[in-house]
Amino acid sequence: MNDNPISTILFVDDDDVFRRTAGRALQRRGFSVLDASCGEEALNLMALPECSAAVVDMRMPGMDGLELLNQLHQRLPSLPVIMLTGHGDITTAIEAMKRGAFHYMTKPCDIQELEIYLNKAVEQNEIQKENIHLRNAMRRTQDHPGIVGGSRAIQQLLDTIGRVKDADSPALILGESGAGKELVARALHFQSQRREHPFIDINCATLKPELLENELFGHVSGAFTGAVSQKEGLFGVADKGSLFIDEIADMDPNVQASLLRVIETGEYRPLGSTKVRSTQTRVIAAANRDLGAEVAKGRFREDLYYRLNVITIVTPPLRDHAEDIPLLVEEYLKRSPAGRRGVRFSPEAIGALEAYHWPGNVRELFNICERAVLLNNDPVISAEAVRSLLSMSFPLRAPGAPAHETAGAPARPAPARLRSLEDVEKEHIENTLRMVERNVSRASDVLGIDRRTLQRKMKRYGLRGE
Ligand SMILES: Nc1ncnc2c1ncn2[C@@H]1O[C@H](COP(=O)(O)OP(=O)(O)OP(=O)(O)O)[C@@H](O)[C@H]1O
Ligand SMILES: [Mg+2]
Repeated sequence: MNDNPISTILFVDDDDVFRRTAGRALQRRGFSVLDASCGEEALNLMALPECSAAVVDMRMPGMDGLELLNQLHQRLPSLPVIMLTGHGDITTAIEAMKRGAFHYMTKPCDIQELEIYLNKAVEQNEIQKENIHLRNAMRRTQDHPGIVGGSRAIQQLLDTIGRVKDADSPALILGESGAGKELVARALHFQSQRREHPFIDINCATLKPELLENELFGHVSGAFTGAVSQKEGLFGVADKGSLFIDEIADMDPNVQASLLRVIETGEYRPLGSTKVRSTQTRVIAAANRDLGAEVAKGRFREDLYYRLNVITIVTPPLRDHAEDIPLLVEEYLKRSPAGRRGVRFSPEAIGALEAYHWPGNVRELFNICERAVLLNNDPVISAEAVRSLLSMSFPLRAPGAPAHETAGAPARPAPARLRSLEDVEKEHIENTLRMVERNVSRASDVLGIDRRTLQRKMKRYGLRGE
């Protein structure tokens, strides 16, 4: 007996007597049966998406079983299909299995045996559906956390994303550090029709030009010493998806030329190869410096700039949408275990957060929230606690960013201070290390810098880890 009485089975066979008899037998066993006498009729059934498995006769007038199998899989890729074949029809049975049929049975088939396979098929379909559901949920929470904000600035940003997400031309995202450029890049991809294809990111500031070129375009074996096997470039890996090229202002001029070529022609040549490859990858680039100014200084190719600048999205600095701070704090608390335990900021604490100028934008806000939560034992965080953290705050860069730019980029307005930046940084790192019982990984998470950068700084300042 089928465990799940509401599983719907599609039964397609042109033999009316067999179809009805088998259909009734399956209904008695707890399945709900949708039947059709030919492929066309089956594909027109309104309830087709409800089906958990299908039984399809191989030989039918009009569309044959193999063709119906293809069509069903185009519409419902995870639908398990059991094929019914005539005696001695083993070649077509094998062909059906190759094309992804779940199983095949020879007619006349035993209903009890069919029931066993249908139960397995329904179970497989449920697992696959569950997997797709989990994958989508993970995608939403991990790969594509939501863009939060009710302000005009954020609403305009969301509108722009909605309008340009499905365009194929490159997109350029500009904005200060920590203001959400990567978040926007992910939104562009995961809200677009490309979402089932890869989203790959690469940072130009952390790779030497030869390595960057090798990553982007790949190489054939023997292309250079040590190239023992071939390597697929990211333009191949991200085909039909999106390639997020971060910190593009730091891209070497030679690599800029190759990038321009692939954007213009949709073709690239792996290192050492004589053949060109084509790609349908969408390029999404980001920069936190004014790219136009880089062009004026002769550091960035003008032609590439114009190619990238077709769709430009600017992420607003947090000080321009400070009214979103309460919502952003709520978002932080939702994401953090402490928030889920019920830790909150007092209304005055939120007021103190709203009054600050946030040179490190949302990343800095989330870092301050994290430190406030870690340092305070009270369930409600006070305005004093927030103010004392803000008085010693300065933004640190994202993980993966180069070490030399870590301590406050020159463009940021630094809060007035009497001590040197290095003193403040040393003290801040020491405080954080103490707070997390000198666990270096945890400290690097709280500080928002990568572990190696933190270790370098600890060495420089003579600070001890666990
Ligand atoms: N509007 C927003 N809603 C929710 N989270 C946001 C928003 N803006 C930024 N964030 C969060 O702030 C952090 C920093 O954002 P992101 O990494 O996208 O910044 P960035 O502009 O790429 O910075 P950088 O130039 O330093 O690489 C991330 O945790 C991101 O999820
Ligand atoms: Mg970034």
